[in-house]
This record gives sequence, structure tokens and C-alpha cells, in this order.
Amino acid sequence: MWIFLNDRFVTREQAVVSVFDHGFLYGDGVYETLRSYGRRVFMLHKHLARLERSASLIGLAIPIPEKDWPELLQEALERNGLEDAYLRITVSRGEGEIGLDPMLCPRPTVVIVAKPLPQYPPHLFDRGVSLALVSVRRNLSSALSPQIKSLNFLNNILAKQEADRAGAFDAVMLNAQGFLTECSTSNLFFVRDGRLCTPSAEAGILDGITRETILLLAGEQAIPVEQGLYTPAVLRQAEECFLTNTTMEVMPVREIDKFPVGSGLPGPITTRLRSLFRTNLSRFLD
Ligand code: PDD
Repeated sequence: MWIFLNDRFVTREQAVVSVFDHGFLYGDGVYETLRSYGRRVFMLHKHLARLERSASLIGLAIPIPEKDWPELLQEALERNGLEDAYLRITVSRGEGEIGLDPMLCPRPTVVIVAKPLPQYPPHLFDRGVSLALVSVRRNLSSALSPQIKSLNFLNNILAKQEADRAGAFDAVMLNAQGFLTECSTSNLFFVRDGRLCTPSAEAGILDGITRETILLLAGEQAIPVEQGLYTPAVLRQAEECFLTNTTMEVMPVREIDKFPVGSGLPGPITTRLRSLFRTNLSRFLD
């Protein structure tokens, strides 16, 4: 396995980072998860723009210019002999003395990992997954904005652990006001009275790139779309529900807190959007 570390590709054994890296010490850094389909990367420029936004929101200057990323990612795919792959870019504050001051770290640490795409078992797509509404609240936007895709992922990890304990595939988190936000690594959609609904950015979510793609496709197909602030009671009445992220694309949800969603099978709008995503994919590959 070849991993890009700072300025060159090294082997997995050589790809080591200091115990004084502030990414390790404080979760001080940002990341992006990308996906390639036959070496073409899904929404590459949107992911790079989000990486840049996350970094700028924490005052981190990424040492690699945006124009160099496409080539580096291609090299990561080629060196590892990968086609359909999972790509992760991590940029941490870098190595520095212990202390919170970012000035202690003269040079950010940059890592690209490319590996085969983890496959979700097909029955999850056919039958849908289960969700649990958890007690862990999504980070308050004014404390640690969910728009920063940061290495500090404990909020989501705690939510996921709670879902695991409830025997669910993933967790639905509420915000401090009790409105729906998102799941641990995905955005939430549901259908109510034939309208496709998803929590708005105002609820405090990461504005997912797959979410944006689905909203675009739904708009093109004249499926009524609504973004807003929703209570869990609204979700419980949903006719359909699904999750989106880069690795899952569109994942149907069959039950929430052990209660079936609609008929308990992937609904017509979910199935249609999943297939539209696939048939339109080439438009979104860079
Ligand atoms: N997660 N919300 C959260 C909290 C996420 O971490 C992610 C992505 C999303 C969906 O974003 P996108 O559609 O751009 O993948 C929503 C990635 C997959 C991860 O953390 O690995």
C-alpha cells in the first residue's frame, strides 16, 4: 500500500506520524472522504472546496495548492492499482510542542490514503437499515460547527456507540433545540405527504455533497423538495426514509427505534432517487 505523506508516497510501514502531531494530541485538523468510480472521483472539486472551507474555519493553511490535488489523488489510485476506491485526505495542524497554540506547529501534516471501497452487504440496500434516535446531541453550531469536517469526531462516535448499543445501524442526532440533524456519517432524508424533506443547514449539519446531488436530481425530476427544522415526531410519520453519503450513495431506512418506516421496505421515491443517482453518475465524476 502506498500512502502520500507530506511530500511523497511512502509504504504503509513508513507512513508514520509523530506522537506530537496536534492531530493526535488534540484532534486538531480536518479531513475529507472521497470516492472514485473507475479512477474518476465523485464531485472532486466540491470535496476539495469543502476541505478548504474546513481548513479555513480552523485557521489552517493547506500546504498543497488546490490545482495539485487531482494529480496526487490519481497517483494514489494508480500506485495502489485501484479503480473503485475510497480516498481519504487528512490534514492535521502538524507536529509541535504540547500546547494549544497552532503557532507551535510550523508545518501541517498531509496524508492521502487510497484503499478498496468497503462494500456494504447488498441486503442493506435491498431491505434498508435501522436507525435509533440517540440522546447524544449534535455539536452546537456555535461551539463546534458541524460544517467543519474535523478530526475531532467524538460527537459522532458517541452517537454511533449509542446506536450500536440499541442494535441499530446508525444514530439520528437532534440539535440542542430538539430538531433533527443527521446521522454519524451521513445526511438524513425522509418523505412525508409525497414531499422529500431533509434537515436544513440551519439545523446544524454537515452539508453533504451526496445530499446536494440528491436535492439537484429530485429538483430536476420535479419531486417536491423541502428543507427545514423537523421534530422526531415528524420523522416517525414518514412514508420513506433514507441516508446519503459518499460511500453509501443512497441507503434506504427500514425502521426507526424498531418501528417500521412506511411499509418497512424501500419506498418508491427512495428507489427512484437511488437509481437516478446511478444513471446520472457520469455527470458528477471529475
Ligand atoms: N462522512 N454528515 C456527516 C457528519 C458526515 O461525516 C458525512 C460524510 C456526511 C455526508 O457527506 P458526503 O455526502 O459529502 O459524503 C454527512 C464521510 C463519508 C466520512 O466521514 O467518512
